[in-house]
Amino acid sequence: MMRVSLLNEGLEIPIEGEVAYFNYYWLRDNCPSSWDDITQERIFDILDEPDDLQIRQVEADELALNIIWHDGHRSRFELTWLVRWYKERSHEDLAIRHRTPWYCDHYKRMARFDFNDLLENPASVADWTEKLLDEGVALVQKMPSSNEELVQLCELIGVVRPSFSGYAFDVFSKKNPENLAYTSRALELHTDLPPEELAPGIQFLHCRTNDAEGGDSLFVDAVSVANTLKETYPEYFKILTSYKVPFRYTTKHHDVRAKQRIIEIDEDNGEVSGINFSQHLSDIFDLPQRVLDMFYPAFRKFGQMMQDPRFLMRFRLNGGECIVFDNHRIVHGRSSFKDGSGDRFLRGCYVGRGDLRSTYRVLRAKYPKERFLKL
Ligand SMILES: [Fe+2]
Repeated sequence: MMRVSLLNEGLEIPIEGEVAYFNYYWLRDNCPSSWDDITQERIFDILDEPDDLQIRQVEADELALNIIWHDGHRSRFELTWLVRWYKERSHEDLAIRHRTPWYCDHYKRMARFDFNDLLENPASVADWTEKLLDEGVALVQKMPSSNEELVQLCELIGVVRPSFSGYAFDVFSKKNPENLAYTSRALELHTDLPPEELAPGIQFLHCRTNDAEGGDSLFVDAVSVANTLKETYPEYFKILTSYKVPFRYTTKHHDVRAKQRIIEIDEDNGEVSGINFSQHLSDIFDLPQRVLDMFYPAFRKFGQMMQDPRFLMRFRLNGGECIVFDNHRIVHGRSSFKDGSGDRFLRGCYVGRGDLRSTYRVLRAKYPKERFLKL
């Protein structure tokens, strides 16, 4: 028998040579009987418990902590389960992974997948989603030239999430463009739509035709750039991860606004997770003028570093290819192309980053990587 001490709001139990403390409400809320066997959703309501939740009886051995609550309800907690929450305080999460930064030479080693293989093999989708989590970008090849098949590809990861312009967007020259993307002009490096409160997560850019002269794709891994900024200009990094600045998109029918941090930090592991960067959609920065004295040097240095050739991956996106990338992490743009030199048509869609992580968790648990060793 192990000695368990009952305190006012929780209990203490010796675990692996230490004294672990657990709150009574937390224990009652997470009694194994709180979960529905089929849906795995919580079916217990902690709000119905009294304000002074009490334990009538408690005992513990090497295997489990057994509690009888004030109303006679019995809970049994495996000690291995309690140890995990005491030590790690969370569920294991396959989707918390270290990002692999990449540089200008990434194109030749960028992960490539075939559309048909992805449709037929969920294990390949597991590998694809892993590359998207780790590197933020992957190329899907042999894509049929249709809107439906782009949606089919998106739905391997999640549901298509509309932006304020709808479920999909087409990029080609237009006569009366409402947006710079619909001209033949160069597009500066940007992430899409930071004026949206939840800026789009995973972007699918399906190239249907690219016969125009020019129009190269320009991609940069913002994680690489932000990590380099952190090493070389730590005070600038701090400013860009601290202050939020406004972005805005206006048309006759829209006035979309949101404030975002230029550099975003992953709360799970402290890594840089992405950025918000779009000069054409930046609103007037409304920070105090004295703060702007610090903000502009940081903002300009970061933007200039992104254009540095050592970070810039330049390549041509061909018809039948769909480049899929994390819209927060990968900054993208294009060089100008010559009007009338040939057709250039891309169609894009978005899926949430949460959908990517969810699909990865499910598929990687089902198709572990060790399968390669068995072949
Ligand atoms: Fe874009």
